[in-house]
Amino acid sequence: MNSAPGKLILAGEHAVVYAQPALAIPIAALRASVVAEPAPSGAGMTVHAPDLGLVWRLRATAPLSDLAQRTLDYLQLPEPDLRLTISSSIPIASGMGSGAAVGAALVRALAEQAGQQLAAHVISDLVYQSEKAFHGTPSGIDNTVVAYEQPILFQRQAHGEPLIAPLAVGKQWHFVVADSGIASETKAVVGDLRQRWLADQEPYNVQFAAIGSLVRQIQAALASNAGPAFGQLLSQNHQLLQTLGVSCSKLDQLVQAALEAGAWGAKMSGAGWGGIMLALVSAERASHVQQQLRAAGAVQTWQTSLLPTDSKR
Ligand code: PMV
Repeated sequence: MNSAPGKLILAGEHAVVYAQPALAIPIAALRASVVAEPAPSGAGMTVHAPDLGLVWRLRATAPLSDLAQRTLDYLQLPEPDLRLTISSSIPIASGMGSGAAVGAALVRALAEQAGQQLAAHVISDLVYQSEKAFHGTPSGIDNTVVAYEQPILFQRQAHGEPLIAPLAVGKQWHFVVADSGIASETKAVVGDLRQRWLADQEPYNVQFAAIGSLVRQIQAALASNAGPAFGQLLSQNHQLLQTLGVSCSKLDQLVQAALEAGAWGAKMSGAGWGGIMLALVSAERASHVQQQLRAAGAVQTWQTSLLPTDSKR
């Protein structure tokens, strides 16, 4: 079985599309997996995703078929007789990277058929090419964190490959994640912001730069052990996202509820207009914050944590 994790954008969403740095972390407990089974000779390749209520053949016009074809081309593999079954515990259309994780697991499953193990940057790039074909102007952060499966700083460069740097983690950090229950399409939110930016770039560029400098501070806070300071920076990022017009009243309410329940900080995460928010909490507060988020109308909540890296080597 081949799998890939879900992800959270810790800071810097949207500004990352405009070449500012952003931070993302994998959520190991939520995963997408692909099981490959041989099919009768001549059957070709079919993809089954009972969790998503979908079945399709390789030649269908769908993002995953496109990715499968790109991967077979890369591997120089003819279409195999294969039944691929996808399962995923990552909620779709909510900012947790379900599309990228399913894609990365699919690439790994096909590579296994060719007896190959692909490097993370190759998997990431194949998923990115396919996301670009179907989702407009993705920054590439989702496919990167999901394929590398470690906390990363990601920044697009004016030319060439993006900057990808592993993040130092100073202590075990605990997060509560809540789903607003409002499905939101990344392409729509990113497209709307792009239209507004095109009409009047200067004020948006100022906001993006402010988010970028906050991201650098958050990167340092993540490597420290100062919870309240880290939390405050995350909450500041939320305020800047509100100003950009990508939050919504439900996300704002959930952020407020988390802060009132004693979280060190909270923000929406991902594209916004729905989807998820995250709260940085002490281990002792995690369950209470989770409960209060439920009471405030979250349809699903999770706890996830980040382990310290051995950064003092
Ligand atoms: O796809 P989501 O909801 O995890 O969010 C994408 C993050 C954005 O910065 C808004 C878009 C992008 O491509 O980076």
